Formats: sequence, C-alpha cells, structure tokens
Amino acid sequence: MNHLDKKEAQGLVAEAEEVLARYVQPELGIELSQKDYDKTAAKYDQYLGALGVTAQRKMASIVKGLYPDPKQRETLRVIDVGAGTGLVGVELQKIGCRHIDALEPSRGMLDVAKQRGIYTNFFCNFMDDKQLPIDENTYDCMTIVGAMGDNHIPCCALHEMIRIIKPGGYIINISRAANIKICSDYIERLEPLMEQLEQEGKWRTINKDVRSDMDFFGTEALIFVHEVL
Ligand SMILES: C[S@@+](CC[C@H](N)C(=O)[O-])C[C@H]1O[C@@H](n2cnc3c(N)ncnc32)[C@H](O)[C@@H]1O
Repeated sequence: MNHLDKKEAQGLVAEAEEVLARYVQPELGIELSQKDYDKTAAKYDQYLGALGVTAQRKMASIVKGLYPDPKQRETLRVIDVGAGTGLVGVELQKIGCRHIDALEPSRGMLDVAKQRGIYTNFFCNFMDDKQLPIDENTYDCMTIVGAMGDNHIPCCALHEMIRIIKPGGYIINISRAANIKICSDYIERLEPLMEQLEQEGKWRTINKDVRSDMDFFGTEALIFVHEVL
C-alpha cells in the first residue's frame, strides 16, 4: 500500500467512525438517524470493511452452533432484523441458510440488501411495539446485529420479536455492550424485561456473553441468545 492509499484508508476509518457514531446519537432522533442510513447506504459496506467488523460472521457461527446439521440449516426460516445492507445474510448464506427474510426500515439500506439476491422476502418496517405484517410462529430463528441502541430497536419490541418466532426457535442479538448502560430506553429496563419474559415462560436465556475478542463496530459486544418457548 503506498502512502496515499494509507492516507485514504485512514480517512475512510475516520469517516466510518463518525458516521456510525451519528446513527446512534440520542439527539438525532429516529427520523434523522434513518435519513442518515438512507444517505450512507451505498458506502456502509466500505465503512464496516474499513473498521474490520466481524460481528456478522460471529452471528453465522452462532447459528451454525445452534443448528449443526447442514440439512436443517437449508430448511431453516430465518428473519434478519435490522438487516441493513445484508451483511448478515451474506454470512448466513455461506453456512447454507437458504430461506432468509430481511426486515429493515431504511429504504436505502434495504435496496442495497435486495441487490445481493440472498433474501427471499423484504419488510420495510421498524421492529417496535406495532404488529408486523407477519403471522405468529413464522420463523425458526431471528438474527439481530447492531440494530439495538439509541434511535434503534426499542425495549418494547421484544414482545413482537417473540410473537413471530416458533416455539423452540431462537432470537440471537449482538449489540454494543455499552448499550445497556448508556441508552435511556434500556437502562434498568432491557434486562429486567428480558427476565420478566423468562419468568412469564415466554422465552429462556441460552447465553449471555460479553465479548471483547471480536471486532464489533470497534467496541465490546454483548451477545444474547434466547429460546422462544
Ligand atoms: C448498524 S446497522 C446494522 C445492519 C446489519 N445488521 C449489519 O450487521 O451490517 C443497524 C440497522 O438497524 C436498522 N434499524 C434501526 N431501527 C430499527 C428498528 N426499530 N427495527 C429494525 N431495524 C432497525 C437501521 O436502519 C440499520 O440498517
């Protein structure tokens, strides 16, 4: 790499950090955060590449661990929530998943995901407390990478997530570890709600893990795996 290339690469990393930090700025609000996603969709993959983010690969390895039989992965119905440009879909396809739907509120991001030819159905919706145009018990597995945080999926969405997953199915959520400490919607609410859902017999915790050995949007990651009951 010559000097100019290195400079350009450093510039891209700085730009990526700035853009990614802006998506989750509380003062921005949901509407402007979504506008930012629309505007930056074409460059999003470059940003994640520059930062060396590997959370999507980690997600696929978790799915593989939960469904070790390749034949089962071929028939699995997966919904990728906050699918963005489809980077999780790319990794799921590599491990043999063939029925993956995408839910993504930003039209710009969803359009990039569509071009990949990986996902089957597309839902341009927010995951929140409103009922989605999806029947209950539709999917075996839900993947969520980087879609929790300020201006992103709110706590109240957990009910709707559970509704569309079949009993025995999994909800796997990889997000910034700091979220539960800094997002006003999550502080003293997200984990208590998760526990309440467990006590109500709606789901059970399979794993909760803080990981610093993976490149997750340049920061420590928190991984939740829940089985829907
Ligand atoms: C940081 S990106 C992650 C995209 C992709 N999962 C990845 O790993 O590259 C977060 C995505 O979540 C989406 N998002 C924001 N709020 C959401 C909500 N309430 N429900 C579903 N997706 C949401 C954003 O539009 C954005 O595309």
